[in-house]
Amino acid sequence: MNVLVFADPTAASLHIVDEVSKIVRERPEVVLGLATGGTPTDVYRELVRRQQAGDIDLSGVTTFNLDEYVGLSPEHPQSFASFMRHHLFDHVGLSVDRTHLPPGRCDDFSAAARDYEADIARHGGIDWQLLGIGDNGHIAFNEPGSPAGSRTRIVQLTAETIEANSRFFDDPRDVPRRAITMGIGTILEAKRIRLLAFGAQKAAAVAAAIQGPVGDDCPASFLRRHPDVTFVLDRAAAGRLQREVGANPES
Ligand code: GLP
Repeated sequence: MNVLVFADPTAASLHIVDEVSKIVRERPEVVLGLATGGTPTDVYRELVRRQQAGDIDLSGVTTFNLDEYVGLSPEHPQSFASFMRHHLFDHVGLSVDRTHLPPGRCDDFSAAARDYEADIARHGGIDWQLLGIGDNGHIAFNEPGSPAGSRTRIVQLTAETIEANSRFFDDPRDVPRRAITMGIGTILEAKRIRLLAFGAQKAAAVAAAIQGPVGDDCPASFLRRHPDVTFVLDRAAAGRLQREVGANPES
């Protein structure tokens, strides 16, 4: 596992965008795994800027998002589908049939979960996966207790996660209590994984993921079993790491 520590979220986000830009130039049809939440917004803003400046062309990529709230339609303003359209898809000429999210509403979630996994496989798997991390060490919506081999499925959100995500809703009572999420096993099949984390509130989860025991108390710790993972951090999120790790020229 690699750890890169940058002076601030902007520098860390630019590092991610530079890597995505290079990958897309080399393989315009690359399959990207994408995340939502507050952390990746600068990444998406810069990708849009580079697309609109003609520096990159994202129109040939295929994307798979990690998760979606159960009960929210793709049109719901707080759905992850809306988040992705607003922050990226609508601005980079990505046609809807190239973007994939697990459904927040459907008649049979077990079948939808199987279909999502099959769709990822049909596209040859995810070449490059962007992750965030929850304050409690969750990745996607794999909360503590999630098995390392878990697959796409419906999960119950913890009170802590519901609280953390309530900032995106007008009324906390509207925050969904369940989600459909790629599993840890699904995520670990991505060829390359980049976890982005900013701020002191992520420092404990980051330190547990990188230096704590590998186990389901901290789902992000399972990433240490993957051959190509990089944690891309700002100094605050790296603040609880026990030794100087990953000092890099940009930091
Ligand atoms: C949610 C998402 C995760 C995300 C996490 C952190 O739980 N399912 O994918 O990493 O929130 O979000 P933020 O970046 O807003 O801290």
